[in-house]
Amino acid sequence: MSEMKVFRKLDALRAFRRENRDGHWGLVPTMGFLHPGHLELVRRARADHPREDGGRVAVSLFVNPTQFGEPEDLAHYPRALERDLQLLEEAGVDLVFCPSDEDMYPPGFQTYVHLEHVTQPLEGASRPTHFRGVATVLAKLFNLVQPDRAYFGQKDAQQTVVVRRLVKDLDFDLEVVVCPTVREADGLAMSSRNARLSEPQRAAAPVLFRTLQIARQALEEGERDGDLLRQRMRQEIRSEPLAELDYVSVADPDTLLELPVIGTSALLSLAVSFGAVRLIDNLPIDDLKPINSEPIAE
Ligand code: PAF
Repeated sequence: MSEMKVFRKLDALRAFRRENRDGHWGLVPTMGFLHPGHLELVRRARADHPREDGGRVAVSLFVNPTQFGEPEDLAHYPRALERDLQLLEEAGVDLVFCPSDEDMYPPGFQTYVHLEHVTQPLEGASRPTHFRGVATVLAKLFNLVQPDRAYFGQKDAQQTVVVRRLVKDLDFDLEVVVCPTVREADGLAMSSRNARLSEPQRAAAPVLFRTLQIARQALEEGERDGDLLRQRMRQEIRSEPLAELDYVSVADPDTLLELPVIGTSALLSLAVSFGAVRLIDNLPIDDLKPINSEPIAE
């Protein structure tokens, strides 16, 4: 299989997968409008699944309606199918799955995957049905494509926690691979939403990464009080007039619950709107020195 195969129909994909059981498969699930962050996931999947070893790389392009709260946001989500297919062909992808909404969610559809706890805080607080949609579509994609590995960006930190939990709890036989966030030169995390920022909003948007770096530096300098860190982050976001703060968080990386006191690791994250465009970013922090760990001088 060297030519890229494009499947729009679920049955055709399933039949193809039944006839092509050999080799290991990597899946990069996306909502299309690909940017260098997605292509980095594809590159990593390709490297992990070399053709010469029978490895295969599949990419899904599907703007999943069930993970959008506001119909407006869904209507405005950018799309560029032909350009995406071209980029994926150039990236050496073996298979693309781009189904229609009607085929993924036909009339009568009523089965959703709901995770109890990790979906509640952060993004879940502002977008209560978002992760139900993400978990449902991923369960469907895993069933249809049957990958050995699935690739996600660290940029959607809570999504990575949700996916790991989903895979563990529902016994999907696959490995979740999380790849580092890809950033613009000024630190802005790459996202399909960035294309919707006006020029002044785009100029203001690096405030997200700057805020995360300020919190990281404070942690590195020994600050361990969660409230003070969150306060410092809020202050930085509020210094940017075009930015409207949704949340800042200094949380446990596994439970996503806010930390009153930081131990050796934390997930710093935030969500900020610029007009109608809502952006998120995060920095995972590991291996902090526990406070009071220095030996007491005699
Ligand atoms: O991260 C995304 O683009 C989406 O949430 C995903 C994982 C493709 C599910 O629709």
